[in-house]
Amino acid sequence: MLKIKYFLILLLLVPAIAFAQQGVVAEDLGQAVDLPALIKQCEGCHGPKGNSTRDDVPKLPGKPVAKIEESIAQFYYYERHCLTKTPEYDGKEGNPMDMCAVANSLSKVEIQELAEYFSTQ
Ligand code: HEC
Repeated sequence: MLKIKYFLILLLLVPAIAFAQQGVVAEDLGQAVDLPALIKQCEGCHGPKGNSTRDDVPKLPGKPVAKIEESIAQFYYYERHCLTKTPEYDGKEGNPMDMCAVANSLSKVEIQELAEYFSTQ
């Protein structure tokens, strides 16, 4: 009887796991990218459209797409300093963060789309 119970639980779990994995694939295909929300996060430190007004945060517009992608990859692998900064959203301070944490929260497709956006602002 106990064995049947475990078998039934397993039967329920298999589709759940398969569904979870599909979610990851969907994100990698760019279907789950919320670009405006991501841009807003970047703007908390990099300023409106990446035109930073802070001395401690670089401007992003005008940099080639490939250069922006490369910089984010360097933060992703902790090859550059990860200075903690406090973002500001609508005049209010957000939670302190650093670029390595930001880079590690992004998917490949998100990095690509953000680089294309900020490069041309
Ligand atoms: C908490 C503040 C903060 C947030 C949020 C943030 N950044 Fe940064 N970013 C920085 C700081 C500070 C640097 C400079 C770090 C250094 O050079 O040591 C930087 C550097 C960069 C660089 C390298 C620029 C260069 O020319 O050297 C890129 C590209 C970049 N950020 C993109 C982004 C993107 C895209 C987002 C949004 C997903 C983002 N950043 C969110 C603070 C932030």
